[in-house]
Formats: sequence, C-alpha cells, structure tokens
Amino acid sequence: RIAGPSGLVIFGVTGDLSRKKLMPAIYDLANRKLLPPGFALTGFARRDWADQDFSKVVYEAVREHSRTPFREDVWRQLSEGLRFVSGSFDDDQAFDDLVTTVADLDRVRGTGGNHAFYLSVPPSAFPTVCRQLARSGLSAQNPEQWRRVVIEKPFGHDLESAQELNKIVNEVFPEESVFRIDHYLGKETVQNILALRFANQLFEPLWNAHYVDHVQITMAEDIGLGGRAGYYDGIGAARDVIQNHLLQLLALTAMEEPVSFHPRALRTEKIKVLAATKPWEPFSETTARGQYTGGWQGGQLVPGLLEEGGFAKDSTTETYAAMTMQVNTRRWAGVPFYLRTGKRLGRRVTEIAIVFKRAPHLPFDSTSTDELGENALVIRVQPDEGVTMRFGSKVPGTSMQIRDVTMDFGYGHAFTEDSPEAYERLLLDVLLGEPSLFPVNEEVELSWRILDPVLRYWEKEGSPEPYRAGSWGPESADRMMARTGRHWRRP
Ligand code: BG6
Repeated sequence: RIAGPSGLVIFGVTGDLSRKKLMPAIYDLANRKLLPPGFALTGFARRDWADQDFSKVVYEAVREHSRTPFREDVWRQLSEGLRFVSGSFDDDQAFDDLVTTVADLDRVRGTGGNHAFYLSVPPSAFPTVCRQLARSGLSAQNPEQWRRVVIEKPFGHDLESAQELNKIVNEVFPEESVFRIDHYLGKETVQNILALRFANQLFEPLWNAHYVDHVQITMAEDIGLGGRAGYYDGIGAARDVIQNHLLQLLALTAMEEPVSFHPRALRTEKIKVLAATKPWEPFSETTARGQYTGGWQGGQLVPGLLEEGGFAKDSTTETYAAMTMQVNTRRWAGVPFYLRTGKRLGRRVTEIAIVFKRAPHLPFDSTSTDELGENALVIRVQPDEGVTMRFGSKVPGTSMQIRDVTMDFGYGHAFTEDSPEAYERLLLDVLLGEPSLFPVNEEVELSWRILDPVLRYWEKEGSPEPYRAGSWGPESADRMMARTGRHWRRP
C-alpha cells in the first residue's frame, strides 16, 4: 500500500537515529514508490540551519545509509519537500513557525493537513513537545485530516514513570494516534514468528508445556557503548532492550492465536500473555547481570565500560542482563523463558530457541545416543535470518549411532524479495495509520510491571559482575542455567 498525502516532522532531527535510520528509510520508501509524490519532511532542532543546510544533511545521510540505489529524480522530488524549523522545544515562536511551515506544505506539496510528529528526543522533552503541539494547535484532530505522534523509547524507566508519560502523551493525542516505536516489530523475521506459528499445522501442536522444555531468547551484540553514555549510563541492558524488544519477542512466541490479524485482535492476545508473565524468583538464582571489561574482540583490543568516555568511573550500569520468566497460562505453566542480552559479547546474534523435551523413551543402546541433544527450533532474527530445526539422525555406517543435524531455512536462499529495513516498514505504517506493529500503552506498562521487581532487586545488590569483552557474559549467567540442569546455546 502507498501512503496518502502526508508529511512528517522530526523533532531531534540532528540525532544519530535520524541520520542513520529515519532519513535513509524515507528515501528508500520514496525510491520504492511507497510515498506520495508531495511527501514533505520537516526537521526541527536547535541548529541555526536554513532549508538548504538541512537538505545537505539529509542528502549525506541518504548517500551513506540508504539501502536502495541512489536515483537523482527520486532525490529531487523528495528534496523539494524538505523544510527546517530552528528553535528549542520551549520556544513558542518556533512552534508557531512550524504551524506556518506545515500550512505552507499543505498548499505547495499537497500534504492535505495530514502530519505525523516524530519525537526522536529524550523522554524528559516529551511533555514540553506535547504541550507545544497542543498549544500551537498542531495536534488538533479533525475528521478531514489526521495528526499522529510517533515516540521512541525509552517509554519511562519504570512502571510509574511510564504511566506518567502515557498520561501526558494521551492528554494531547488519543491512543489511536500514538505510535510507539519498537523497531524489533518492524523486522521481517519478527513478523514471521506469527506466520510460522499460525500459518502452519506443523509447529503449533508442539508449542506448549507438554513438549517444550524451555525457551531461550537471546539478543547478543558485539558493539560496545562508546559514545552512548548520555543515554545508557544508569539505564542498562534490561531497560534498554528487555523491557521492549525481548518482552515483545516473548509475547509473540507465547501468545495465543488471535481471532484475526486485525490490530485489536492481535493486541488483545499480546496483552493477555504479558499480563500472565512474571519473573521467576528467587532473583538471586534466576537472574544475572554483568558489565564488560576490556578485552580482545574480533582481533581488536577494546576498552571496558568504565573506560568508555562519559560513564561514571563507579558506574553500576549493567551491559549484560539475563532473567527467567514464567508465563502463567495453561499452555506454558512450568516452562521457563530465559531472556538474555549483552553488549561486547562473542558475536552479534538475535534468536529465539524453542528447546523441546527429550523423547520419553529411547529404544537404542545407551551409547547410540551420546551425541543426541535436545530437539530445537531456532528462529534466527538476525543476522543470517531464517529458521533452523535441530533433531537427531542416524550417522551413516553399519551401527545405529545418532547425532544431531540441522534443517535450515534462510531468507537469502528462499526468497528473491528483499526485506525492507525495520524503520521503513514502521514509518510507512505510521503514514498509513496501520497500528499493528506498535505497542500500545497497556503493553508498555505491563512490560514495566514485569521488569520492575528485578530492577529493584538489582539496585539493592550493588555492582554487576564483570565479564570480559568478547566472551559470552558473566559466569553467574551460566550458573543461573546450570542450576536448572540447562545451558545457554552457543549461537
Ligand atoms: C536499540 C538499543 O533499541 O536496539 C540499542 O537501544 C541496540 O542499545 C539496538 O544496540 C539494536 O538494534 P538492532 O536492530 O541492531 O538489533
């Protein structure tokens, strides 16, 4: 579907996210002919830029980061709709200028009064920007034109602050006009979880506590936190990605089949499963957290967190977090969901592994099955996107020897279509008013409700355990698994 007449205003447009993700995604959408010809992009920030300066920045971002080939005619068309408004968020005049700019765009570009406001700003600035959008009349809804707000995480730092934030946003925009970005939901492989589960007969009968031993959701990154202290110090891995990305992956993996793919039906099931989820106690045994120290990674000597610029020398911010969740439904009772994430780990990989129970009886000699592990279905979110199934098979030869093998589906082999970048998909959905891939306030609040008790426990505990850059995290994370007779997968 192609977006109708519309414009996008980005607040905090001089940040990294705009340059690396938003601007290139907009160009790619234009290149794929998914934006209306009169689409307009307005940047709002403090810099003293003219439209041309902004245009130059967008051009460079597009040349450096866009995924589709550069085409002069596409760029020309897009660049004619670029505007910049200079000012700070508490500057009434700047917002009045924005009103004029937007009205002007409606006239010259035909944006039809339909505008989305993208808040790529720290949460502390949300209230001010929302208030200004209300004061200037920019948020005013009417039946002929839509006004939407797009907000980036963090949606608060605990349940209470998230509730406050939601209240402020909802005072200005009705919930159906609020689009909260969790960019994991924009990923093809994440959307495929529902296709895999609900378009097939093969998996769903096994997708429950009768057959599943446990689930491991891993989001490992090899990058460190250099340059991100301002955002990350005091926030940590659990708030940064477990509260949002990993709990959304858990919800999609564990939820019941929605009655349809209508956004409301989907949301109902996600809310149900999040409401049934809570962390497994005691936290001293079911959670682990760590902080990376310097070490060798990919042939490079990298600094530890405490040596990264901007972090407090005694920072207790965790860069690794692991925890055990329980989903208290008939389908999942007793099945642990292990979540882990970390920076500066052995390699970059995000995957969901459904690990099955062992066959209840093996009619083989005991030594035949020495190399037989547990059956597993692994959804590889990234990189090397695909799905792998692991099961035992007879080793060719004259005796009955069984060894694990894998059956593999890779996007690169199976499809010639190329996957849009997550932000492309999400920005398009904002312009289309398609809310399925955006968590609603209730999901956000439920996720904090799940996480808060662990965060409170960790706060009392003091410092996270150091782990070496390039390793697979702190030893306490391995102990946490070993206690239940399980182990982390080495992706
Ligand atoms: C962001 C986190 O939401 O996701 C970052 O704030 C993290 O810390 C990033 O690096 C990872 O995204 P992706 O798409 O590269 O897995």
